[in-house]
Amino acid sequence: MNRRETLKLMGAGAVAVGVASPVSAAFSGPSLASLGRKRGIGFGSALSGNSLDKAAYVRLLASECSLLTAENALKWKYLEPYDGERTYGDARALADYAELRGLRQRGHCFVWNHHDRMPRWLINTAASLRTGDTSKLTRRMWRHGAFLAREFPGIHSWDALNEAVDPWTGELRETELTRLLGNRLVDLSFRILSQKYPDTELVYNDTMNWEASQLHKNGVLRLLERAIKRGVPIDALGIQSHIGKTLGRPRDELAWRKFLEEVQGLGLDVLITEFDCSDQNIIKRDAAIRDAETAAFSKGYLDLTLSFPNVRDVVVWSLSDGESYMNRQSYPEYRWRTDELPLRGHAYDKRLRPKPMRDAIALSLANAPDRA
Ligand code: G3I
Repeated sequence: MNRRETLKLMGAGAVAVGVASPVSAAFSGPSLASLGRKRGIGFGSALSGNSLDKAAYVRLLASECSLLTAENALKWKYLEPYDGERTYGDARALADYAELRGLRQRGHCFVWNHHDRMPRWLINTAASLRTGDTSKLTRRMWRHGAFLAREFPGIHSWDALNEAVDPWTGELRETELTRLLGNRLVDLSFRILSQKYPDTELVYNDTMNWEASQLHKNGVLRLLERAIKRGVPIDALGIQSHIGKTLGRPRDELAWRKFLEEVQGLGLDVLITEFDCSDQNIIKRDAAIRDAETAAFSKGYLDLTLSFPNVRDVVVWSLSDGESYMNRQSYPEYRWRTDELPLRGHAYDKRLRPKPMRDAIALSLANAPDRA
């Protein structure tokens, strides 16, 4: 069944990817969390509210992970769809689940410097303000930070600011937020959270990886350097690591190593915050071939990145193909495979059978230098 057919059936309520299929063999052997723990590395996954209802998947997640990121539920856009009107959506249920299972929680994300990803009303509010007239916007930011800390106090690590740098220019992405605040957007995102969550790790999170272009990487380095000089309380860089886009395309491992050295030189920790490897660029249809290629590619990336001892956590952006954002209706069509087969970018397949990528992650964690 191809992607279009599967999505059509899902729309009709007949099947849901990863739900109707019987669960096959849970992985036996050390969990990814325990392999990571031996090296001082946390391992976790994103989880969406919908997946929380799927018992087998949630069991798998609890057995493999020591930390959890709410995939969408803590985004400002979903928590405050109208000015001053909150809806909790799945955020509360995800936080309760993490607490019950003793999973550390990563918060994603306080501010996302992107019009489509922030509440529409907030962007409209910013657009209505004259340069220099920032208090209406900054009051909303403080209010949201206070709300998060009051309602979700258990979060140990926050993406205070997400994707602020424009990959095409290396500069701050031009939005209504940066038009009004400029670099103060960076400062405020971190200062608000550091005041509201004094003991929580604060992370700048962005999409760069080992692609050949230096523009984005240099832009992120500049943002970090300048922010540190201004005394902004940044603890770590989050490297999202959706690496499939570089599979079969030019990449630059030396430049990647140099980038990681520079981040280390800034005294920052690094987290891999959203790892996955889409097989969009692999033309062959055969699942075993696609899985072997993405696994080998993932291992190369993880081995290199985890060779830096300041890389502390690895979080995958879903554990299984069935629960993946890549196989949802909302995933942009230009990122689908041309044959429209469901994407296979994760460690487990849609029936929750471990794939070679699971071995790749396990080996990279086991072989990483000891953080202790
Ligand atoms: O919940 C609605 C549903 O009611 C509606 O029928 C459907 C129609 O398209 O949309 C659903 O909402 C979607 C939501 O995901 C839940 O699946 C949104 O349209 C869609 O835009 C949203 O996409 C999320 C995206 O971030 C934007 O927030 C993805 O799930 C999520 O995986 C993705 O995660 C991002 C990280 O936050 C930042 N880094 C990149 C990463 C992957 O794109």
